[in-house]
Amino acid sequence: MTDKTNSYSSLMEAAARAREFSYSPYSGFCVGAALLTSDGRIFTGCNVENAGLSATNCAERTAVFKAVSEGVRDFSAIAVVGGRRGEVSPFCAPCGVCRQVLAEFCAPDLPVILGTPQAFKVYTLGELLPFSFTPADL
Ligand code: THU
Repeated sequence: MTDKTNSYSSLMEAAARAREFSYSPYSGFCVGAALLTSDGRIFTGCNVENAGLSATNCAERTAVFKAVSEGVRDFSAIAVVGGRRGEVSPFCAPCGVCRQVLAEFCAPDLPVILGTPQAFKVYTLGELLPFSFTPADL
């Protein structure tokens, strides 16, 4: 295993642990995310649902907002683990809104690690959100 694969698998494990805090009484779909900062810290997040469904926050955005609200904006990877409560889906892709939020702070080459801690694939943000609208477009 390379150092990179090792660090991605630890990031996936952090995402899986964060998923345990998922507050998802309405969908029963539990998601965890772990965002690696350029200086080696990890900010985690889970989805937080709401009786007013549109107030729900996804796991990825929880992690990004936690980091940004603590003054951190430089990221080097994000890992996402999701699935129905009690199961882990082999693949849980970030929703469009989360991709857009990531594009605000991250370059298109940001690795986005999807799957399970045991079996995952690495995509780039640019692959998941091509032709994105970013601060550079304003
Ligand atoms: N969800 C996430 O947390 N991240 C995504 O990118 C996809 C969807 C959550 C939102 C909601 O609580 C549940 O999964 C079902 O959509």
